[in-house]
Order: sequence, then structure tokens, then C-alpha cells
Amino acid sequence: MITILMGAPGAGKGTQAKLLESNYGLVQLATGDMLRAAIGSGSALGEQVKSIMSAGSLVPDDIVIKLIEQRLSTGAIGYVLDGFPRTPAQAEALEQFLGKRGEAVTAVIALDVPESYIVERVTGRFTCGSCGAGYHRVYRPTAVDGVCDQCGGKNFVVRPDDQQEVVEKRLAVYAEQTAALLPFYEQRGLLTKIDGTGTVEAVAERLAHVLKLRNPVKASA
Ligand code: AP5
Repeated sequence: MITILMGAPGAGKGTQAKLLESNYGLVQLATGDMLRAAIGSGSALGEQVKSIMSAGSLVPDDIVIKLIEQRLSTGAIGYVLDGFPRTPAQAEALEQFLGKRGEAVTAVIALDVPESYIVERVTGRFTCGSCGAGYHRVYRPTAVDGVCDQCGGKNFVVRPDDQQEVVEKRLAVYAEQTAALLPFYEQRGLLTKIDGTGTVEAVAERLAHVLKLRNPVKASA
């Protein structure tokens, strides 16, 4: 079961992918998280992608394709791809890679969120520096101010690419390079667009409904 979550920056892909992981046992593969981990570790890869990411541009295709291919080989019952593919070359590489293994993408779900909501969502985001739990100043604050609900950590981080001008650049990159994937998957009969506005729980319910239609046995487990 390979589900791709698509949507503009801040559409809620990461939030929903984590819920799919905990509710259905799917493994979240988030290229943005992998690249940020590489930067955090100070690896050669991190050094290579740091300035590209903080400028809001896309990392070269060969780098992210390699990252995803390595992780898709872990033998999990299913995966939710969050932030990949982002270009036609990435989508084609994924199709070829899965095809060689006799597998295919099960569903592509695009979270539709108007641009006017996006900037507010992204600029309000912060993450626990210890466990990575995600929050939002208004929509998803911690229960106790300054303390992570999940691990009790008190260190929070804000992504350098979440400043307003970089978010605007990321939105432009999405429109220019990634939105073209919607017709790519529509032609293959895989795409469902859902409303990504409303509460996190309301969006999760819409997503679960689509997954049950696409993969009735596994998604209702
Ligand atoms: P990446 O990390 O993938 O960022 P993104 O796609 O821009 O997505 P975001 O993480 O900003 O948003 P999201 O949709 O996951 O929303 P979230 O759930 O966090 O990529 C970062 C960079 O890495 C790229 O710019 C590029 O440089 C590079 N990169 C990554 N993948 C690549 C690839 N394949 N190819 C090339 N380069 C690549 O939610 C956002 C906020 O809204 C949170 O605060 C959340 O709490 C809140 N929220 C979520 N849902 C709701 C809701 N329903 N109501 C109210 N608030 C909500």
C-alpha cells in the first residue's frame, strides 16, 4: 500500500502522514525530514542541500530519488510518501522503481488548501527539538506553554524556510514544478483531491474515507 500525499507547502501533509502512521501502521517517508536530518547531522549531504532548502528551492532530483529508493526497501506493510515526488522526473523514477518490484502506487491524495491559509499555517509552525512533534501557535499549541505534549521537552525549533518570503518562494516553486503532477496521477486514475481546510481531525476523516475506498481491507485495519 503506497499512498502519496500531495499539496502545497503547509497543506498539512506531514500532520496527516503522522496520523496515517499511527492509525494504520504505514511508514511515513518525508523527504523534507530526511534532508533536515542530514543538515542537522552535519553530513556532506546536509552541507550540499542546506542553502538550497533555506532559499525555498528544490533539491536535485537524483538526491531525493536515491533517498526514497533506499527507504522503500525496508519491507514495511505500506508507506505514505510526504513531499515526494515533487517533479515529473521524480514521479517517473518512482514508477520505474516500483514497477521493477511488481509494485505500484495505490493512491494519491491531494490536500487542497487555499493559498490565503497557507502562509498563516506555515509561519505559525514550530517543532519540538527533542522528539520532532509538530505544533502551531494558534491551531495546535502545546497543552502547557513551552512544554512538549509528547516528551516534555522545552526546546522548540522554527524552520529557516518558514519565513514569509521563503514560504512565498516555496509556493511559487510548487505551482511551477509540482502542481504538474496532479494531471500525471489523474490520468492514471490514482488521484483524489480532498478539502484540506477545517480541523486536523476533520481532514484525517476525509483522508481515511478515501483510503478505505482505495484499499478497503488494509485501510480499515
Ligand atoms: P518539506 O519539508 O516537504 O516541506 P513542504 O512540502 O513545503 O511542506 P511543509 O512541511 O511546509 O508542510 P506540510 O504540508 O507537511 O504541512 P504541515 O503538516 O507541516 O520540504 C522542505 C524543503 O525540502 C523543500 O522546499 C525542498 O527544498 C526540499 N525537498 C523536500 N522534498 C523534496 C523533493 N521531493 N524534491 C526536491 N526537494 C525537496 O502543517 C503546516 C502547519 O499547519 C503546522 O503548524 C500544522 O500544525 C498546521 N496544520 C496542519 N493541518 C492543519 C489544519 N487542518 N488546520 C490548521 N492547522 C493545520
